[in-house]
Amino acid sequence: MIAAALQTPLSLVRSPKTEQEPIPVRHMKFEFDAKSVDDKFLLNTELASAYFEALSIFLTFGEDLVIDTARYHRQFVDDPVLKQRVTSLIGQEAVHSKAHNEWNDMLQLNRFPVSIYRFLAQQVFDYGFKQLPNPMQLSLMAGIEHFTAVMAEFFMKHEDMFFSTDDEKQRALWMWHMLEESEHKDIAYDVFQELSGSYPLRIAGFAMAFGTILGLIPLATSVIPFYRRPRNLISPAFWKDAKRSVGVLFGKKDGVYGSTIGHVLDYLRRDFHPNDHDTSEYLEYYKETLLHPETGLLTPYLVKETVPPLRK
Ligand SMILES: [Fe+2]
Ligand SMILES: [Fe+2]
Repeated sequence: MIAAALQTPLSLVRSPKTEQEPIPVRHMKFEFDAKSVDDKFLLNTELASAYFEALSIFLTFGEDLVIDTARYHRQFVDDPVLKQRVTSLIGQEAVHSKAHNEWNDMLQLNRFPVSIYRFLAQQVFDYGFKQLPNPMQLSLMAGIEHFTAVMAEFFMKHEDMFFSTDDEKQRALWMWHMLEESEHKDIAYDVFQELSGSYPLRIAGFAMAFGTILGLIPLATSVIPFYRRPRNLISPAFWKDAKRSVGVLFGKKDGVYGSTIGHVLDYLRRDFHPNDHDTSEYLEYYKETLLHPETGLLTPYLVKETVPPLRK
């Protein structure tokens, strides 16, 4: 397994932007089927899997904010390579948002209150985040991208977590998203640093992303099992699942957030940079295994790949 094969590199070497490969935009077509949705996708847990279902809904709103914010600020970026990378970020997030919205439509057919969650997320974004001044939205964009980078790195190191289910499309969706979040993890941060660089502002955006991803979404998720089956409250099986789910998400040793809190909080360091957490070897591994023309797990769903032009 990759986690064992690689030495979890934490390189401090940052490659100059001119040496970075252009990031492609991969257009995907999953054609999800409501019948194959596994609502215990993540290690056979209901509540932890529901967290990712709720996250999938909130993510589309976060991605739309990233797209709008990146598109607005791209005009102020001087470096043509960074500008090209911003276009890749916008393209990748646009395909994520579209694919997750299609996926969320499937969840609607699978005992998940998608309309309620969409309504809730819409209120938070329309009356909250989208009302913020542009520099604050820029910071929030960088904060959101930090969390997706942390999650992507976690899952890259825990490949097995994707394989306890038979739901191949859900697995492909999350693994594709993982790959690309890691691929573009430094772009929003670099734009923020180039156009603002204010430490207090960066931390304010981080705090908002933190509150949403680790406060609001878990809170919203906690009602799901009761929505599905009200008698869950008195079911020992539910409480057993709840305990396991909390461990999967917040366990100190190998929970998604519990084991990565150091990485999450590393963002508070004044000289933090996303590439301090070097995932390049994992990226190479996953590009090879997921996108191999014959055996790649994503290959059946890949429609085409485009690379934005470099404009001087
Ligand atoms: Fe995304
Ligand atoms: Fe992203």
